[in-house]
Amino acid sequence: MKAAVYHAPLKPHTIEEVEIDHPRGTEVLIRIMASGVCHSDHVIWSGHRAVFAPPMILGHEVAGVVEETGPDVTTVKPGDHVIAGGGLRFCGRCKNCRAGRAYMCLNKFTASRGPDDKPAITWKGKRIGGIGGSSVGFAQMSLTDELSLVKIDNDLPMDRMALIGCGVTTGLGAVLRTAKVPPGASVAVIGAGGVGSSAIQGARIAGADQIIAVDVVDSKLESAKKFGATHAVNAAKVDPVEAIKELTDGGVEYSFEALGNVKTIEQAIRCLMPRGTATLIGVTPDADDLKVNAYFVISGERRIQGHHLIYSVGALDQRYIVNLYRRGLLNLDDMVSRHGKLEDLDGAFRAMEKGEVVRTVLMPN
Ligand SMILES: NC(=O)c1ccc[n+]([C@@H]2O[C@H](COP(=O)([O-])OP(=O)(O)OC[C@H]3O[C@@H](n4cnc5c(N)ncnc54)[C@H](O)[C@@H]3O)[C@@H](O)[C@H]2O)c1
Ligand SMILES: [Zn+2]
Ligand SMILES: [Zn+2]
Repeated sequence: MKAAVYHAPLKPHTIEEVEIDHPRGTEVLIRIMASGVCHSDHVIWSGHRAVFAPPMILGHEVAGVVEETGPDVTTVKPGDHVIAGGGLRFCGRCKNCRAGRAYMCLNKFTASRGPDDKPAITWKGKRIGGIGGSSVGFAQMSLTDELSLVKIDNDLPMDRMALIGCGVTTGLGAVLRTAKVPPGASVAVIGAGGVGSSAIQGARIAGADQIIAVDVVDSKLESAKKFGATHAVNAAKVDPVEAIKELTDGGVEYSFEALGNVKTIEQAIRCLMPRGTATLIGVTPDADDLKVNAYFVISGERRIQGHHLIYSVGALDQRYIVNLYRRGLLNLDDMVSRHGKLEDLDGAFRAMEKGEVVRTVLMPN
C-alpha cells in the first residue's frame, strides 16, 4: 500500500510503498477512505514531541471500510464502515476497567504487537508506524484494534465521519464531558480550527448563552458563527482578554484553549470570571511551561484543567456524536474545507498554518 512518510521535522513527506501485515488477534485491517489532517499531526511533524521520532506515518482521524478481520474479532466484519481515531483500547480485566474507567486501562497498550512480534507495517524491511502504533492515517490501509473502532451506517459520508475520529470528539468532549458546560453559561473558545469549531458546537448543544469565538483569521470567525458562536473576536486586531471581559460581566464562566500555545493558554485563564474554569485542549511543545499568576487563580477560585481525547471520550460517545450529525444537531458539512490525496499532505499543513481551512480531509484510495 501507499503511505505518506514523515522523514524529518518540517521536511516534505514522500509517498512510499510500504508493507502491511494481515490482522492478528483483535486487529482489523481498514481501507482508509478519509483521513482528517489534525493539528496534532502538525505538532509532531514540527518536531515538538520527542516521543514521536521519524520515520513515521502520521494521521489519526480516520473513516474507512473493514477489509479483513483478525481471528478474535467479534464486533465488525469485512465491508463494515468504521471510524477509527484516538479511540479506546482496553483489557476489561484490570482494576480501572472493572471500576468502569476503561479509558484509564492499566493495560491499554498490550493489545498491539510487542517489539518481538512480526511488525505490522514495514518500509524497506524495517518497522514503521504512527501515533497509534500500526493504527495510521495518511496511508491507504491501517491495522487498528477492534476496540478503537466505531461501526457506522454505510450511507454516512466518510469525509465527515473521519473528523469524529479526533477533532470533533475532542472539542465536544471538552465541553460536554470535561467542563460539563451547563445551559445558560458564558463560553469563550480560543482558536476556531477543527477542534475549536467542535467546542463551539458543543457549547451550542449544551445550551450556552454566550459563545465567544476567538481567532486571528476573519474567515474562521465567520465559520465559527455557522457553528454556533454568538460573538467573534479577532485577536490580531484587539486584546482578546479585554474584548471577552467587555462582552461579558468581566469574564466568562468557561474558556477553552484549542490552539496549543502558552500565550493563548494564558489568555484562556485571564479571561475567566471568578470561579470560572479554563479547559486546555491544545497540544503544546514538550519544552513549554505555563506561567500563571497564582493569586489570580486563588483569589477568584478559578480552575485550570486539561482535556485529552483518550481519557475523556470513549466509543459510546462517538456513537452519540454520529447520531448528533444524523439528527442535524452537529454541523460537520461546513467543517470539511477541502479534500486532497496523500500527495497533498504538505499543502494541507501549509493551509493549516495560514488558517485557510477548518479541516482538510485526505482521501487516500
Ligand atoms: N487534547 C487532545 O486530545 C487534542 C486532540 C486533537 C487536537 N488537539 C490539539 O488542539 C489544537 C487545535 O487543533 P486543530 O486541529 O483544531 O488546529 P487548527 O490549526 O485547525 O486550529 C487552530 C486555530 O487557531 C487559530 N489561531 C492561530 N493563532 C491564534 C491566536 N493567536 N489566537 C487565536 N486563534 C489563533 C488559527 O487561525 C486556527 O483557526 C492543536 O494544538 C492540536 O494539537 C488536542
Ligand atoms: Zn484494563
Ligand atoms: Zn487529532
